[in-house]
Amino acid sequence: MKKPLIFLTGILLLAGLSSLKKGYKTPLYKDEHAPIKQRVEDLLKRMTLDEKMMQLSQYTFGLNDNPNNIEREKSTLDPRVGSLIYFGNDPILRNEIQKRAIEETRLGIPILFGFDIIHGCKTLFPIPLATGCSFDTALARKACEIAARESYLSGINWTFSPMINIARDPRWGRISEGYGEDPYTTSMFAIASVKGYQGNKNIIDSLHIAATLKHYIAYGLSEGGRDYTYTDVSRQALWETYLPAFKAGVDAGAKTVMSSFNDISGTPATINKYLLTDVLKNDWGFKGFVVSDWDAIAQLMAQGVAKDSMACAQKALMAGTDMDMLDGIYEQNLKELLKEHRVTMQRMDDAVRRILTVKFQLGLFDHPYTPVIPASQRYLQPHARTIASKLAAESMVLLKNKKNILPISSSVKSIAVIGPMVKDSFDLMGAWRGRADVKDVESIYTALQEEFNGKISLHYAKGCDFDSKDKSDFDSAIQAAKISDEVILFLGEKNGWSGENASRSNISLPKVQEDLIKAIKEKTGKPVILVLNNGRPLALANIEPDVNAILEAWQPGTLGASAIAGILSGRINPSGKLDVTFPLTTGQIPVFYDMRQSARPQSGIYQDLGTNDPMYWFGYGLTYTTYHFGKVKLSATSIKKKQQLIATVHVTNTGTRDGEETVLWYISHPEATISRPQKELKHFQKLGIKAGQTVTYKFVINPKAVLAYPNDKGESILEAGDYYLMVGNQKLRFELRN
Ligand code: GLC
Repeated sequence: MKKPLIFLTGILLLAGLSSLKKGYKTPLYKDEHAPIKQRVEDLLKRMTLDEKMMQLSQYTFGLNDNPNNIEREKSTLDPRVGSLIYFGNDPILRNEIQKRAIEETRLGIPILFGFDIIHGCKTLFPIPLATGCSFDTALARKACEIAARESYLSGINWTFSPMINIARDPRWGRISEGYGEDPYTTSMFAIASVKGYQGNKNIIDSLHIAATLKHYIAYGLSEGGRDYTYTDVSRQALWETYLPAFKAGVDAGAKTVMSSFNDISGTPATINKYLLTDVLKNDWGFKGFVVSDWDAIAQLMAQGVAKDSMACAQKALMAGTDMDMLDGIYEQNLKELLKEHRVTMQRMDDAVRRILTVKFQLGLFDHPYTPVIPASQRYLQPHARTIASKLAAESMVLLKNKKNILPISSSVKSIAVIGPMVKDSFDLMGAWRGRADVKDVESIYTALQEEFNGKISLHYAKGCDFDSKDKSDFDSAIQAAKISDEVILFLGEKNGWSGENASRSNISLPKVQEDLIKAIKEKTGKPVILVLNNGRPLALANIEPDVNAILEAWQPGTLGASAIAGILSGRINPSGKLDVTFPLTTGQIPVFYDMRQSARPQSGIYQDLGTNDPMYWFGYGLTYTTYHFGKVKLSATSIKKKQQLIATVHVTNTGTRDGEETVLWYISHPEATISRPQKELKHFQKLGIKAGQTVTYKFVINPKAVLAYPNDKGESILEAGDYYLMVGNQKLRFELRN
């Protein structure tokens, strides 16, 4: 026995010695125990110019999944590419491409596969505008963890999410993709999303993916609510409203940022050196990389700031855009630009270094392949369904409930269920549906049948389409209503009416839907409950008086229908509050809660409306129980800047149903060097309160973090003076001293 072992040992030793003699040792960048910084530098110095340029380029793969397209794509793909937007969800195909990068290229640099997982991968959660209404960041984080796991197992290591654009113009279709109008709320959900996608660690483990803070920045200010347009953004507004959520996301460790399409007061985001380099990279110390938006570098010519593709590439790279999405402008021009000294090798190396660092942090060099497990074990797992159902329920907002018609009374024996949404699963999904499949999405009708199984008979009629002149089905709707005790109308928007390139000049429901409501009201007199599925705030002034209740159900995703049914039946007690204001009419836009006070608060009223107030303010939402707020207590009424102030309030559930209540704490600073919003949300907390129980909510006010405001240079200004804490209908003054 002994002899072979000695012989084998000798062979191994000889092999080891010979390879050392020839100098063949594992390159440092391949040593998974070496520090990432060293691995990056070792790899960078080995790279040719072409290899560097390819790392700065991102293309698509699997745009349509017919086999001959994939075969052609595979044959034309340059495996040295830095990243691919992966439109497939097959880990085997993804691994096949990755294998080419690892084995067929000189340095074996892995490809970073990305995709738009905006509100879920296969398990679809509510659209982000709905999730923000839950005010439940812990739950939102769990949803992102699930999305990360399903994405990772689909071969995706990078999501272009969270979208954290503050939006106050519901004409803009992309308002559906963010968390509403408020910088603080959006900041909290940015943090929750980054931690959900990436996990806690700096090194992302095998079931997390890189996040993207997008679209940097102020994209939601799109002129006229139209997409891709000019945005007039003052430095004060940048620092006060649009930058905070990105700063929160960067501090939470986001690995990437996507620059936005819009022209920011004359300097498009893609070439905005002040924002991309001075603020993001130098001031904030962001160590990840910036990816452009789709073709945004080439689009600089349309924006009138570059005469040709060379100028596009030169301006974008030198401003701080590291990776070029889709248009190939970097790959086509950087070599020439280097030769002409119009870009620097130092800047190019910095961009490559950032991208390689993220790839190392994702573990792609050491574990480049996706584990292949059956789709049935990847997607829609029980935990995922539980979280999706709970988040859908918590995101829904009860806007009206006249005489407590909801939840549906046990005396109701028949309901007319009417509207284009009743049997439509597809439009419950919303824009950016990830990998979700409509066959996994339960329709409202099926959910109602399960919820009321036999206790209440359902009379269905479509009534109308989403938007047409055809009223031929009105009669059947009216008949269904006449034979029923109550009517539930399921109306709203199609998926394609919100999201990218989906602006609408009028945010009322289409006329045919409004006419259906009025026809049923006038022809039957039955009580009408309106359930809305939509991707933006709607102007409901025309029809609000005609309905007894309104449930804003948004586009709630895979498990949304059962959440709607649960709220209607009373199985679920609604707890959502609006993260965005609902104007009375389109003409009121923009109207949002943290506006500045008018110089003449009692004047300047819309003559045709008689009010400047919206239909529903940010923070509004009803529930099936009642809460009593005790007197807010302050630990002091005067503090120094270095002291803390603690505010508490006892909240009692005085109703008969358990519930979850979100307490929103606002600060008002009525006299400052520059005017402040009439109030600003600075803290929120959502707690479960059983019927009859009292729970204490607490807000620890650290003056620097809570009372300071940024000036137009981003400097934090903390001024002594009078402040007010506002919670519920209480407003308490306190003084801040030097
Ligand atoms: C789109 C969107 C952006 C998305 C990207 C990749 O145009 O603006 O949000 O992540 O392209 O699909």
